[in-house]
Amino acid sequence: MKVVAVLYPGGAAAREVPELLGCAENALGLREFVEARGHELVAITDPGPELDRHLPTASVIIATPFWPAYMTRERIERSPELRLLLTAGVGSDHFDLAAAAERKITVAEITGSNVVSVAEHVVMQVLALVRNFIPSYLDVVQGGWNIGPLAARSHDLEDKTVGIVGMGRIGQRVAARLKPFDVRMYYYDNHRLTAAEESVLGARYLPLDTLVPRCDVISINAPLTPATDRLFSRERLRRMKKGAYLVNTARGRIVDTEALVEVLRDGHLAGYAGDVWYPQPAAKDHPWRTMPHHAMTPHVSGTTLEAQRRYADGVRECLAAFFDGRPIEREYLIAEGGKITSPSYSYAYQ
Ligand code: NAI
Repeated sequence: MKVVAVLYPGGAAAREVPELLGCAENALGLREFVEARGHELVAITDPGPELDRHLPTASVIIATPFWPAYMTRERIERSPELRLLLTAGVGSDHFDLAAAAERKITVAEITGSNVVSVAEHVVMQVLALVRNFIPSYLDVVQGGWNIGPLAARSHDLEDKTVGIVGMGRIGQRVAARLKPFDVRMYYYDNHRLTAAEESVLGARYLPLDTLVPRCDVISINAPLTPATDRLFSRERLRRMKKGAYLVNTARGRIVDTEALVEVLRDGHLAGYAGDVWYPQPAAKDHPWRTMPHHAMTPHVSGTTLEAQRRYADGVRECLAAFFDGRPIEREYLIAEGGKITSPSYSYAYQ
C-alpha cells in the first residue's frame, strides 16, 4: 500500500533537531516502520500538483492542520484506492468529511495529542493582548521608552469576564489555566458540562448570544464545521463588547476575515490573536498580517516538539491497526463505515 504524508518543510531545522518529527524530511519518524511492514511511504511538502500525482495510487493520506492538504470532494473522487485519511494533530476540516464518509473512507485524528500545547498558547496570547505586550516589546527593540501610549492600552486580566466557545479538551484546559487569574468565566458548547465539572473549572454555561456581549475576552475552541463556519460573522463581532479581545486557535474560517479587519480598525475590538488562518499557508498579503492590534503567529500552537512526539506516536498506532486490519482507537475516529462518528463533528453533518 502507498502511504502519502503531506508535511511542512523543516529545512535546516529538520537535520539540526531530530525531534522535529512533523516535517517532511523526518516524516513523523514513520519511514522504517512503514517499510518494514512492506508498504511504501512518500513524504512530500507540496499539497498541490505533487499530491495530485499520488491521488490515483494512495491508500492512506496523512495531513497536518499546520500545512494542510485540502482533500476536497473532487480530490477524493480522484483517489480510487483511498481507504484512510489521517490527521497528524487535531482538527480534520481539511478533509471533506461528507465526501469521505460517502465513500466509506475512514477519517481519524490524534485526539488529545496537542491540547495542552494549544491551551498554553491561548493563555500566552490572551495575556499578550490584554497586557499590550507586542507593542511594548517592539518599542524596546526600536529604541523607544514610550510608557504613556503603551500603558494607555494595558490592563490586568484579573476581574475580567472571559468566554470560551467550545468547551472540549482544549476549552477545558484553557479554563483550568485561566481560573487562577481570578476572572469570571462563561462557556458555550453544544454539550453542556455537569454542574461538578463547571464548578471545578469555574465556568458557567451561557447561550452564545448572551455570552458574546458580556465578555472582555473570548477564546474560540470549537472545530470548524458547517455550523461554525463564520460563526463570528460581522454581526456577531459587532455584538461583542466594545474594547473586547478575541483569541482564535480553532480555525481561521470561524471568523469573518474582512469584518475582523474592520472591527479592529475602527476600535470596536481592542485586539485579536490566534494562530489559524484561511487558507494556509497565509498569503503574503493576507489582511490579518497587517491589521492593527493583533498578536498572531503562524499555525504553530499545536506543533511543539512534545506535541509532535505525541501525534507521531498516534499516527503510528493508527497505521499499525490499519495494516493489521484491527479497529482504530475509537476516540481517534472522525468518520467510519459511512458515518461521521465524532461527537464534536457529527451533529453538524446530520
Ligand atoms: P474537542 O472535540 O475535544 O472539543 C471541541 C468542542 O467544541 C466540543 O466540546 C464540541 O461539543 C464543541 N463544539 C462543536 N461544535 C460547536 C458549536 N457549533 N458551538 C459550540 N461548541 C461546539 O476538540 P479539541 O481538542 O478541544 O480541539 C478543538 C479544535 O481546536 C479542533 O477541532 C481544531 O480545529 C482546533 N485545534 C487547533 C490546534 C492548533 O494548533 N491551533 C491544535 C488542536 C486543535
